[in-house]
Amino acid sequence: MPNTFFITTPIYYVNDVPHIGHAYTSIACDFIARYKRMSGVETIFLTGTDEHGQKIQKAAEKNNISPLDLCNKNSKKFNDLTKILNLSNDDFIRTTEERHKVGAKTLWKKLLASGDVYLGNYEGWYSINDETFYNEKDLIKQSDGSFKTITGGPVEWIKEESYFFRLSKYADRLIEYYKNNPDFILPQSRKNEVISFVKGGLKDLSISRNTFDWGIQVPDDEKHVMYVWLDALSSYPNSLGYITDDKPELKKYWENATHIVGKDILRHHAVYWPAFLMSANLILPKRIFAHGWWTNEGNKISKSLGNVIDPVEIIKDYGLDQIRYFLLREITFGSDGDFSLTALKSRINADLSNDLGNLCQRSLTMISKHCDSIIPDGKNINEKEKELLDRITSESERFSKMVNEQNINNYVKDVWEIIGDANKYFNDNKPWELKDNNVDKFKTILYVTADIIKQIAIMIYPIMPDTSIKILGLFSINEEIITLKLINKNIENIKINEVKPLFPRYE
Ligand code: MSP
Repeated sequence: MPNTFFITTPIYYVNDVPHIGHAYTSIACDFIARYKRMSGVETIFLTGTDEHGQKIQKAAEKNNISPLDLCNKNSKKFNDLTKILNLSNDDFIRTTEERHKVGAKTLWKKLLASGDVYLGNYEGWYSINDETFYNEKDLIKQSDGSFKTITGGPVEWIKEESYFFRLSKYADRLIEYYKNNPDFILPQSRKNEVISFVKGGLKDLSISRNTFDWGIQVPDDEKHVMYVWLDALSSYPNSLGYITDDKPELKKYWENATHIVGKDILRHHAVYWPAFLMSANLILPKRIFAHGWWTNEGNKISKSLGNVIDPVEIIKDYGLDQIRYFLLREITFGSDGDFSLTALKSRINADLSNDLGNLCQRSLTMISKHCDSIIPDGKNINEKEKELLDRITSESERFSKMVNEQNINNYVKDVWEIIGDANKYFNDNKPWELKDNNVDKFKTILYVTADIIKQIAIMIYPIMPDTSIKILGLFSINEEIITLKLINKNIENIKINEVKPLFPRYE
C-alpha cells in the first residue's frame, strides 16, 4: 500500500455562496483524509475555489463589483466554511493565485508542445452555468423550442475563434486506460456511463474563449483566455507544484491522487482531465469517485425554487457533528438522496442520542458512581467478551477497504452495528442488578463496555472528530494525533472524567 495520499474536493465556483452540496463533498473528503492519517498514511487534503470564467464575470457584473472583488468576498466564505465544517484540509487553492496561474500556463505549453493544440472556430451550444460545451443531442428540448441542460440550466449559441485540444485523438487511449485500471472511475455504474460517452465519439474540445477576459491568458495570444475547466482542473497538481516542478517530494503525493466529485462534473474529470494529462506526459490520478446529489424534502435544490440549504444555518440549528453524521450515513456514497428534517431528527435521536449517547452516559456514569470513577480491570473477561473487544481490530482490514473504495456510508453503518452490539451486551448483562451481589462481574461488564466505547470513539473520529475527542477526553486520552493504534490502548485503572450528555434530542 502506498504511504502517501492526496485527496481533493472540486474547487468551488465563487459566483455564489456555499450550499449543502459543497459541504457534502468537503465532509466526505475530510472523512477519508482523517481515516488515512489515522492509519499512518502521509496525507494531503486539498480544497479551494474556482474563480475564472464567464459565470464569475457575469455574476460580478450583476453585483456591480469587479470580478476579483467578488472572488475575494466569496472565496473567503468557502474558506470560512472549512473552519465551520472542521475540515482538516492542508491547503486551500484559489485559481487567481500566482502559483496556480503559472502551473496552468505550463500545462498549456505542454499540450502545445505535444502538437495537440490548434486554432479554429467554435460554433455551438454553451452553458455558462456549467461552463460546458454541449452537443445538441445531449440537451433537452423544451416546449418553446429552446434547450436546457440536464442540470436544468439554459444554453446559448456561441460562435467565436477558439483554440482546440485534439481530444478525439485520445478516445482509444482512454478506453484502454479505463480497461487496464478498472477502479479508476467509481462507482462502476458511473464508469459505464463514461465509457459509453467516449465510445459514442469524442470531438476536439474548445480550450479557449475570446469574447470576455476574466481568465488566465493563453500563452503568446493575449486575445484568448484559457477555457475555465482546463484552468480549474490543473489547480489540483498546481497546489503541489507538480506541473512546473518534478520534485520527488511533490510527485509522491500526486502519484496517489483521488478526486472526489459530484456526478455532474464526472465527464470533465474522467474524460477531459486524463486526456490533458496524457497529452502533457504527466501522471494520471488514481481514482475519480462521483457522488450523487441531494434533494431537499424531495425537491431538486435550486436557487429559483428558493430551497437552497445553507450549511451554516443548519449547523447552527442541529450541531456540526450531527450534520456530518447525517450526510455521511443517510445515503449511499455514489447515489442520490434526500435531505429531510424528519430524517435528520430521527437519525440524531435514534443513532446519536440513543445508541451512542446513552451507551456512554449509562455505563460511564456507573463507573463514576460505583467505582470511584476508576475504570475497573479486565482480568476476568470471558471468551465472548474478548471477542467483542477484539472485533474492531479483527475487522480493521474490512474497514480500511471500505474507505479505500469510498464506501463511506457502509463504514458508518458498520461502526453503528458495533455500537448496537455494545448496547446489547450492556443491556443483556444488566450490570445494575449485579452491583451489590456480584461485584466482580459488575466490574468486568463496566470494563468491557468502557473499552469498547474507547475503541468506538476512535472509529468515529473521521465521522465526528469533536465527539470522538470529547469521548476520548473522558478516558484522559488527549493525544494530539488520533491513530488507529490507540484502539489497543489500555484503559484499566484510569480515572474517568465527568460524563455529560453528548447529543440533545429533537422533537
Ligand atoms: N468549479 C467546478 C468544479 C471544478 S473542479 C476542477 C464546480 N463547482 S461547483 O461549485 O458548482 O460544484 C461543486 C460540487 O458541488 C460539485 O461536485 C457538485 O456536484 C456539488 N453539488 C452541487 N449541488 C449539489 C447537490 N444538490 N448535492 C450534492 N452535491 C452537489 O462544479
